[in-house]
Amino acid sequence: MAATPSRIRPASRLAGWALVAAAAIALALYAGPQIIALAKTSRLHAPDLALFAAQPWVIQVHILAALAMVALGGIILSLRKGDRLHRTAGWIWTILMMITAGSSLFIVGINGDVWSLIHLLSGWTLVSLPAAIYAARKHRIEIHRRAMTGLFVGGALIAGGFAFVPGRLMWRLLFG
Ligand code: HEM
Repeated sequence: MAATPSRIRPASRLAGWALVAAAAIALALYAGPQIIALAKTSRLHAPDLALFAAQPWVIQVHILAALAMVALGGIILSLRKGDRLHRTAGWIWTILMMITAGSSLFIVGINGDVWSLIHLLSGWTLVSLPAAIYAARKHRIEIHRRAMTGLFVGGALIAGGFAFVPGRLMWRLLFG
């Protein structure tokens, strides 16, 4: 049975954007002074492949899957939805996101030797992804759309943005 898309409730849309805004403000407060200080001495350069090669394989897998996930996610957003191309690209994106979130469970550092707050996003991702796929298979398209968009925004903007904070590995790979 074909589903009728329901309207997105303004309150939940507002809550989503409030979360993104809060993360952006927290990031700016946390990293703002460092970014300004480092911007004066750092410059963008080709990726430091020697530094990348020196990382544990789980971090290498995490970075490659995450970057591919962000790139493919951007393409999927611009594709027509529901056809074979969307479904194939969507499955590849889902696998990339599972690898990104799954591999992150084996990475620690920000919070010493234990999981940090970002691992909450990993857990949320690993639970939400199967639920979003299930919704699509049941033709609950609006639920599927909102869950996938939320995962992409959360992954690409929040976890991705935070990965480029000065001092973290992505920063050192490109600006260090
Ligand atoms: C563009 C996207 C992403 C990039 C480039 C990226 C990159 C990285 C890198 C390089 C690390 C190693 C630690 C360090 O930075 O020093 C890391 C750690 C981590 N990433 Fe990502 N990541 C991305 C997306 C994600 C996503 C989508 C998730 C979750 C669903 C995630 C969860 C984590 C977690 C939990 C850690 C461990 C943090 C800790 O040390 O406690 N990342 N990421």
